[in-house]
Amino acid sequence: MARILITSALPYINGIKHLGNLAGSMLPADVYARFQRLRGHDVLYICATDEHGTPAELAAQKAGISVREYCDEQHEVQRKAGEGFTLSYDHFGRSSNPQNAALTQHFAHVLEERGLIEERVTKQVYAIEDGRFLPDRYVEGTCPHCGFEKARGDQCDNCGRLLDPVELINPYSAETGSTAIELRETAHLYLLQSKMQDEIRSWVESSDEWPQLAKSIALKWLDEGLQDRAITRDLSWGIPVAYNGKVREGFENKVFYVWFDAPVEYIGATQEWAEKIGKDDAWESWWRTDKGADDVTYVQFMGKDNVAFHTVSFPVTMIGSQEPWKLVDRLKAFNWVTWYGGKFSTSMNRGVFMDQALDLLPADYWRWYLMANAPEGSDAAFTWEGFQAAVNSDLANVLGNFVNRITKYCASKFDGVVPEGGEPGEAEAWMADELKTRMAALIEHYEAMDFRKAAAETRAIWAAGNEYLTKAEPWVKYKSDVDAAAVGVRVGLNLATLFGIIAQPFIPGASAKILDALNIPEENRNFPDGVDAEALMSALPVGMQISPPEVLFSKIEDAQIAEWTEKFGGE
Ligand code: MF3
Ligand code: ZN
Repeated sequence: MARILITSALPYINGIKHLGNLAGSMLPADVYARFQRLRGHDVLYICATDEHGTPAELAAQKAGISVREYCDEQHEVQRKAGEGFTLSYDHFGRSSNPQNAALTQHFAHVLEERGLIEERVTKQVYAIEDGRFLPDRYVEGTCPHCGFEKARGDQCDNCGRLLDPVELINPYSAETGSTAIELRETAHLYLLQSKMQDEIRSWVESSDEWPQLAKSIALKWLDEGLQDRAITRDLSWGIPVAYNGKVREGFENKVFYVWFDAPVEYIGATQEWAEKIGKDDAWESWWRTDKGADDVTYVQFMGKDNVAFHTVSFPVTMIGSQEPWKLVDRLKAFNWVTWYGGKFSTSMNRGVFMDQALDLLPADYWRWYLMANAPEGSDAAFTWEGFQAAVNSDLANVLGNFVNRITKYCASKFDGVVPEGGEPGEAEAWMADELKTRMAALIEHYEAMDFRKAAAETRAIWAAGNEYLTKAEPWVKYKSDVDAAAVGVRVGLNLATLFGIIAQPFIPGASAKILDALNIPEENRNFPDGVDAEALMSALPVGMQISPPEVLFSKIEDAQIAEWTEKFGGE
C-alpha cells in the first residue's frame, strides 16, 4: 500500500469558480484521489481557499463588509460547490487560518537566517490623498507594453503581461480614482531566488516523474534566470510580518504577499486536518521526511499559470529552509478550458460557474464531459453541443442502456437473481480478451494521469460490453435454450458491476446507483487490474438478488441546449 499526498491549487476566495477552473485542478485531483483509494492506497487529498491578497480586500470593501466576514461567506460558498461536485477532499481548509500564519512566519524566519531573505528599500506607488502605499490591484493606469488604460498594478488584462505597479503610466488609485500619486521609498522583504538557481535546476532536472507540460514550463523559467522577488506588501489583510508574536520593525502596516503564504497552506491545511481528526501530529508523516514522509508520493494538480510558483518559488522556500520538507514528486499541469475558444466571463455572460452548473444537471454529467475532454495536450473548448453529445452518447446510450437492458431482462426472465446454468463460449472468450488489454491500458492511463485517455478507455470498455451482448444474444437464445441465455445474463450482470466499479472515479454518483442496485458490498468495489478477466466475469454469486437501478441518466434535449445557450452564451 502506497501513501499518496494529493493537493489541487487553492482556489482564490473571491468568487465562485467556473467550470474551466474546476477542470484544471480540483476535478482531476479528485478523480485521481478516488482512483488511488480504489486501488487500495492510503490517500490524503488536501485543498483550501486562497484568501489573502488585494482582490479579496477590494471585494469586501465593495460589499461593505469586513474582509474576514467576506472570506467566511465565500469559503462556505466554495465549500458547498465542492461538495455539490462530490470533490472528496480529506480537508478543505483556509489560508487565513492560524496554522498557515505560524508556518509562513516560520519559513520567513528560517530563510532569513539562511541568507535567502533580505530587506530592501525600493520606491513604491504612494497615494498622497489616501495616505497609503498602493500595492498590486490597488493601483491602475496605462500599460507600458500595450497602452491599455485600465491595466491593474500586477497585470494588464489586455495584453496579459505581469506588471509592477511602478511601471504604470498615469497611475491612479483603483479605490478613490485619485491621481495624486508619487513614488516613495519603503522597505520590503525579498526572497533571493537567484541564489537558489542551481539548486532548483538540479532538483527540476532530477524530477523524472513530472508530466511534460509542467517540466517544460519550469525549465523555461529557469532558462530565463530566477529573479529575486518581494514577498511583502503594504496591506492590512494578510499574514503579519512577525515572528514569535513580535512584528518586525517598520513592517507594522505590511503583510506577506499572498503567493508567499498560499502554497504553505498545503501544509497548514494538513495541520488543520490533523487537528480535525484529533491527531495533532498526523500531518508530519505527510510533510516531514524525518517523520515518515520519505515514503509518500506527493502529487500536485494545477493550471499552467501556477506552475512557476510551484516549481520555483515554493521549492525555494522549502529547499532553502534546509529543513526536511516533503517536495512534490509528480506535478500535473493543465491548459485552459475555453468557452467556445474564448474566455469565461461573468460580465459578458460567457460560461457556466460551479453553482449554476449544479442547478442545471447532476455533477456526474459535468464531471464526465470535463474529464473526457480534459485540456491536457492543448486548450479544450467547452461547447454545449459537445457536452450534449458526450452525455447522451457515452453516459445515456453506452453505459446507461447497457445496465438498464441487462438488469431489466434479468428481472423479467430470471426473477431478478443471477442465474445459473450454461457454459461460457466464444462470445465470453472475446470479452475476456477485451478486458485483459483494456483494463491494463486503463490503469496505465490513470497512473500516467492521462485523464482523457482514461475516460476514452473507460468508454471503450462499456462499448465492448454492448458488443458482447450483441454477440451473446441472450434474448434470442432464451427461446430455444434457457441455459445458454443464462450465461449471457450472468456475464452481463458481472459486466454491469465492473462498469460501475471502473466508472467510480469519474462519475461517483451514478456508479453508486449501479452498484447499489446490484447489491455490491462496499468492500467489493475496489478497482481491479483485469489480469484475471474470467474471474471478473463470474464474480457475482449465483442466486444473488439484483434490481434494475432507477434512471441513471436522462438525455439532454435540443430545447435545453437552446435555452442554456441563450442564458449562458454560446458561439
Ligand atoms: N489561488 C491561485 C490561483 O487560483 C492558486 C494558488 S495555489 C497555492 O491561481 F498553492 F499556491 F495556493
Ligand atoms: Zn498591456
